[in-house]
Amino acid sequence: MSRVESLRLLQVTDCHLGANPGELLLGLNPDESLADVLALLALTESSADCLVATGDISSQGELESYHRFLHSLQGNLSMPMGWLAGNHDVAVDMKAIRQPSLFIDYMDLGPWQIILLDSSVPGEIYGNISEDELQRLEGLLNVSDKHTLVFVHHQPVPVGSAWMDQYIIRNATRLLDLLAQHQHVKGLIWGHVHQDFTATREHIKLYGTPSTCIQFKANSDGFALDTSMPGYRWFDLHADGRFDTGVKRVSEKDYSIDFSSEGY
Ligand SMILES: [Fe+2]
Repeated sequence: MSRVESLRLLQVTDCHLGANPGELLLGLNPDESLADVLALLALTESSADCLVATGDISSQGELESYHRFLHSLQGNLSMPMGWLAGNHDVAVDMKAIRQPSLFIDYMDLGPWQIILLDSSVPGEIYGNISEDELQRLEGLLNVSDKHTLVFVHHQPVPVGSAWMDQYIIRNATRLLDLLAQHQHVKGLIWGHVHQDFTATREHIKLYGTPSTCIQFKANSDGFALDTSMPGYRWFDLHADGRFDTGVKRVSEKDYSIDFSSEGY
């Protein structure tokens, strides 16, 4: 670990890469915007301790998109990383890609542990945590009282946009009740909503994170894009269990996004 006093953790999410480089998403080239986020990370975060990618890495689940993501990321950054699947991904394919510093369900960071949860349901847009995943989570929380962050793809609470909140984790109450029983769980963080979101439940901080490509408008009942820039979330994890977090975005860039589109 590069820091004695605190650990730096990065989150990127919802890259939506196509099968081939440059396949557009609502006018935006997601390979280009991911490259812009990675360039920002390489410039300012190269000494971070680890990175987590919270799903929808791919637009349609093609293997090529996963290999291109890893190649792009590892060409810019050298820290260990974890990844988990979103509704656009194929979870079994992601879990089958094995690399020494690529983690699919758990990361040990010394005084902290990172638990990666799979909320994807094959063939569905909504999220759900399987019984196996809930049991794995409970086992990990019972075995270790390390300070804990849990990462997942779908939102466990409504973010205020009806079109997106219909895809919330369907058994989120069970997940949240389980986490609330453990004081060492400090945060639950997700992707999927393509926006910066913050809330608190019991002693647990909740965060949604901007996408590396298009952004969704907050508090919009129907589909709507936002003009905010692609970005990522950072965490500083302190040894006493406190943490700081924030979002950084690409700046001074003009993407040709189709803001009139009514869905994706
Ligand atoms: Fe998603």
